[in-house]
Amino acid sequence: MHIVHVVGARPNFMKAAPVFQALARHDCVRQTLVHTGQHYDFNMSDVFFQQLAMPAPDVNLEVGSGTHAQQTSQIIARFEPVILDLKPDWVAVYGDVNSTVAAALVCAKLLVPVAHVEAGLRSFDRTMPEEINRLLTDQISDLLFTPSEDGDRNLEKEGIAPEKVHLVGNVMIDSLVRLLPVATEQAPRNLPERYVLVTLHRPSNVDDIGWLKSLIDTFQEVSRDVPVLFPVHPRTRARMAEAGIKCGDSGSNLRILDPASYLEFLALQSHAAVVITDSGGIQEETTFLDVPCLTVRENTERPITVSMGTNTLVGRDILRLRSELESVLAGKTKRGVVPPLWDGHAAERIAQVILQPRSGRLTAQSSQRLSAVTSG
Ligand code: UD1
Repeated sequence: MHIVHVVGARPNFMKAAPVFQALARHDCVRQTLVHTGQHYDFNMSDVFFQQLAMPAPDVNLEVGSGTHAQQTSQIIARFEPVILDLKPDWVAVYGDVNSTVAAALVCAKLLVPVAHVEAGLRSFDRTMPEEINRLLTDQISDLLFTPSEDGDRNLEKEGIAPEKVHLVGNVMIDSLVRLLPVATEQAPRNLPERYVLVTLHRPSNVDDIGWLKSLIDTFQEVSRDVPVLFPVHPRTRARMAEAGIKCGDSGSNLRILDPASYLEFLALQSHAAVVITDSGGIQEETTFLDVPCLTVRENTERPITVSMGTNTLVGRDILRLRSELESVLAGKTKRGVVPPLWDGHAAERIAQVILQPRSGRLTAQSSQRLSAVTSG
């Protein structure tokens, strides 16, 4: 069986690695790794491949940055010939980034079966580009692997046939479970005893300069009492530079850092007093690590991290952010539990499902379509 994995952006890599490794244990499987090139900086991409022990991509589409339409259409145009050439049995796509929906669309049109890892998550906020990517990818996937039961319920409401949906748990936690001991061993030596960790990159937070400025001002003020560590995403760095935002107020201890590697960021999270973020994955990782998380968003596609985990949504409300932060730093922390199946074995369950014998219907349709397209 030939399986093509498509990755493109930073949060894809820690999800694809365990699935790739679980499938590699089966002799009947041949795998090809395609990188779309959506993320291309060393510290947004290559370092993750190294630390996750992923082979270098077999194909790099090198699409780079652009508007959503440019990026998505470039991936579609460059990925189609790859699929026509490789004629895989399955294509695995991950998460909710532009690379995910673009690759899934190419496959759906060629009748090549698609497996979507991390299906069913919904923020119910269509102003988020990722929500559009999630909705569309799930509609055109043939196998949908969900991390939690809310995902199954969302898919049922959208009319997805239940036999396509498999609750397997959280693959990102597989990578965390495997590499947390290494991350702890290699943790940066010069960390403060106690600190706040911040990440921000969503357009809703960083493209609104007034709001971004008020967040940074808040972090500077907080950092007079507790150091604040802020590894900055390239998009955020660009916005800060454009707006002339500086972070060197006297007496403050806001440390602006380059984007962290996977191991470095795991170590930073696991020792943090609290994490402030707008990332999806970090809401899950902090829940697993039992570290309080304040999410600067009005909604989340990962409600289980709020209902069961350590996550609190503070919305776009500086006063709420400050008061929640004060509570956490005063020791009033929300305790959580780890959701079911976030146990380090999700990828093995995915491999089992993909390798299940199926009727040859999908494959027959797919080869017919692929030969029709290639012959003319
Ligand atoms: C993308 C995903 C988002 C994910 C995030 C993780 C979509 C719609 N968004 O957002 O869901 O949470 O990745 O980072 O797919 N840039 C660099 N170097 C890089 C990559 C990007 O400098 O290696 C800069 C470019 O200026 C680019 C900007 O960052 O324009 C944004 O990158 P892009 O991939 O468009 O979106 P992200 O904000 O990273």
